[in-house]
Amino acid sequence: MSRADHGPWWRGAVIYQVYPRSFADGNGDGIGDIAGIRSRLDHLSALGVDAIWFSPWYPSPMADAGYDVADYRDIDPVFGTLAEAEALISEAHALGIRTIVDVVPNHCSDAHPWFRAALAGGPDAPERELFWFRPGRGPNGDQPPTDWVGEFGGGTWTRTTDPDGTPGDWYLHLFTAEQPDFNWDHPRVRAEFADILRFWFDRGVDGIRIDSAGLLVKDGTLPETRPDRPHPFRDLDGVHEIYRDWRRIADEYPGDRALIGEVWMPDRQRFANYLRPDELHAAFNFDFLGCAWDASALRESIDGTLSAHALVGAPATWVLSNHDVTRHVTRYGREDTTFSFAKKREGIFSDLELGTTRARAAALLSLALPGAAYVYQGEELGLPEVEDIPPELRTDPMWPRSGHVDPGRDGCRVPLPWSGDEPPFGFSPDGATAGPWLPQPADWKGRTAEAQAGDPHSMLALYRTAIGIRRTERSLGDGPMRWLDAPADVLAFARGDEFACVVNLSGAPVPLPAHRSRLLASGPLEGDRLPPDTAVWLRTDGAPPA
Ligand code: GLC
Ligand code: CA
Repeated sequence: MSRADHGPWWRGAVIYQVYPRSFADGNGDGIGDIAGIRSRLDHLSALGVDAIWFSPWYPSPMADAGYDVADYRDIDPVFGTLAEAEALISEAHALGIRTIVDVVPNHCSDAHPWFRAALAGGPDAPERELFWFRPGRGPNGDQPPTDWVGEFGGGTWTRTTDPDGTPGDWYLHLFTAEQPDFNWDHPRVRAEFADILRFWFDRGVDGIRIDSAGLLVKDGTLPETRPDRPHPFRDLDGVHEIYRDWRRIADEYPGDRALIGEVWMPDRQRFANYLRPDELHAAFNFDFLGCAWDASALRESIDGTLSAHALVGAPATWVLSNHDVTRHVTRYGREDTTFSFAKKREGIFSDLELGTTRARAAALLSLALPGAAYVYQGEELGLPEVEDIPPELRTDPMWPRSGHVDPGRDGCRVPLPWSGDEPPFGFSPDGATAGPWLPQPADWKGRTAEAQAGDPHSMLALYRTAIGIRRTERSLGDGPMRWLDAPADVLAFARGDEFACVVNLSGAPVPLPAHRSRLLASGPLEGDRLPPDTAVWLRTDGAPPA
């Protein structure tokens, strides 16, 4: 189905995030891999997604689950080989599915050859210029150069030991100590990443997801963070020059290659700066992801998103979950339905039935809004956050770095259930030598892709049907929308003249607006009334009543 009249694919695509470690395990070691992804491409094809984004699969010591990259041009043996990645890219293309790789430019792994050379070569090693090495403060240099707080909590500097065994300089890491930050003021860093982009574009990928895109440039005078001063490492103006360079590279390639930024930026104007016509094509909408399940908050988020994007002519994106945040089935079942890292704690009650009802409605909402939509693996199965992973099995560095306050992100990264009645639920092949790398809840048998495929009322069926309608409905994807009059706490909007989406966030059923037919509902209707926490897609007649 062609959406050519909507412009390039990235303006209105449904993009599915594969977290390779947890998608499917082909060789039975309990860890997802490229062979597993290739064996499950039929699932993504049946779901109808336009593109797949692969979280990092590069050689890595896995201090941060692969976001600590030791070699940007190869595949970690646990996931497979570069030849397998190339085969996956072409098999996806053969199914009409585009591919997006995740590039991590802010930092690498401490196992990266440049960082190893920087340490091994001692204080005068030229490779130190590629990172942020600085002497410590205090008479013995045993105080870190700044008191900056890292993105996972805790300090941002680690002291090195010189080759002669004496304590040496410190290096900067905004995340874990195993993730040293690159110095983007250095031309070699810029040249290296230009080459890495080309390496993957040359292999046919259609897009690059840019990790921590707002953090690359630092204030080299290393000031402390102060509320009345520009931040020393978040969203510095110099970062835009990098993305203008990257845009030129993407534009050299045929076929609409896209750059998609991970930009956590509460200020919508500053956020939109990344999406100017000569910079990134799109960025994740974390405002919507963190928004409460509340009509006025959602409407404000939608309007704010659309007006900020309109300023720069970029398409909006709609994201409910990813590999860093609490799965939205769980979030929407809580009293506080917002997401923020600051509030991530163990033991917050969630009514999963309510959360699931709302997640179904949210799926129809986000797939009907103008722009591109993201689906995080397992969201189409309605998976909840797994909140009872025993502490000793948790792998996410956020858990220890938060002083065991934040449970970390393992709970949204549990291996997917595909089939069968008990773990590993088809995640690994029969005869696997190891269980899934994180334990799957024993009660996931009703949530497997196999169980849901045969159930017309399942979350999977809802996603398949909704994405299928979206593919044929010309007014969906990118394009204009228009709010319709609606009762209090009901969101109703038209896409084009013949399509409307209505979401009831009030506590009581509401009458449906005039319509010709119902295309899809997230749950049972009460006659002609839409129950609470339910969404419906309607075929309307000509211009729907304003
Ligand atoms: C991004 C990734 C996250 C990772 C961090 C450091 O936020 O999404 O998973 O831990 O960057 O690379
Ligand atoms: Ca494996």
